[in-house]
Amino acid sequence: MSSQTNQPLPDGYQLNNYTIEKLLSSGGFSIVYLARDETGKPVAIKEYLPAALVIRADGAEVKINSDENLAVFRHGLKCFFEEGRSLATISHPNIVGVENFFRANETVYMVMQYVRGRTLQFHIQRHRHEFTESFIRRLFTHLLNGLREVHAKKLLHLDIKPANIYITMEGKPVLLDFGAARQALTSDAPRLRPMYTAGYAAPEQYRNFDDLGPWSDIYAVGATMYTCITGVHPQPANEREKEDQMIPAKELARQNYSDDMYEIVDMCLKLDHLGRPQTAFELQKALMKDVKDMPRNEEEMVEETEVQDDSLAGRLRKTLNRKIF
Ligand SMILES: Nc1ncnc2c1ncn2[C@@H]1O[C@H](COP(=O)(O)OP(=O)(O)O)[C@@H](O)[C@H]1O
Ligand SMILES: [Mg+2]
Repeated sequence: MSSQTNQPLPDGYQLNNYTIEKLLSSGGFSIVYLARDETGKPVAIKEYLPAALVIRADGAEVKINSDENLAVFRHGLKCFFEEGRSLATISHPNIVGVENFFRANETVYMVMQYVRGRTLQFHIQRHRHEFTESFIRRLFTHLLNGLREVHAKKLLHLDIKPANIYITMEGKPVLLDFGAARQALTSDAPRLRPMYTAGYAAPEQYRNFDDLGPWSDIYAVGATMYTCITGVHPQPANEREKEDQMIPAKELARQNYSDDMYEIVDMCLKLDHLGRPQTAFELQKALMKDVKDMPRNEEEMVEETEVQDDSLAGRLRKTLNRKIF
């Protein structure tokens, strides 16, 4: 990865029907902006801008820094477009909504519903004592509603981690960043090497594609629950395959959880993908088992998260009201 940094579009820039308000985040592959549409509604716009391949020193247009990078850039651009197209087919309260995508400035833009909130990563760092067992079970039960929808559309996320899960001001988890979701389950889809994040990616993501499946996302969900419990991510799967030194969640837990909770996390983090829950629904059932008064169907579950006001959600709202807008 090149160390060069690209200039973001300036505040106030008019991008088709949208006005860029400010930079939200700048990563190695893309830049995310807060913008407004012509009615003044806030949206989040993600711009495809792989730092290693393109230069934008001044002006808005993107320039490819060498001929050989052009093919790679075009290929990535196609994938980014595919990401938008896949996401646009999903409409679910636990999945970030895509409203539009278009080409401009020699690159591609994806317009998403703007989610007001903070990443789960932020909360793991700031509210470390608040991750009670019942909160974790509820959070992930809801997130898995979204993941079930993703899998039903024959997509895999493949980059689930605390930084890609947003918690809205109402305490609802929303899955973001389908940049790695290019690996469709159907065999006629383009087979591309997915990206992965050490500590969260399943072992099969480091190997061939044949073993990828819903259970690969389940591994990442398990790793994310492990991080909620312990404050650190598990040993990366490729290292575990050489010598498994992953410290069990139970030994690092920052508060008390039931043995059943630890068993669920351990199962999700099995190196052998066949040992994990095979579907999001299976994991969801396991998470709901010990929770008293769990709602019976998805609608009730969604409603319940929106109105729940346990101490974390209450504090989130206060923090967020202060920091956003
Ligand atoms: N729809 C959205 N609403 C609000 N913030 C968003 C949205 N999408 C992305 N962001 C912000 O941008 C950051 C990076 O977005 P992400 O899709 O994860 O891209 P990256 O590929 O850079 O990781 C997120 O952590 C979040 O802070
Ligand atoms: Mg991300």
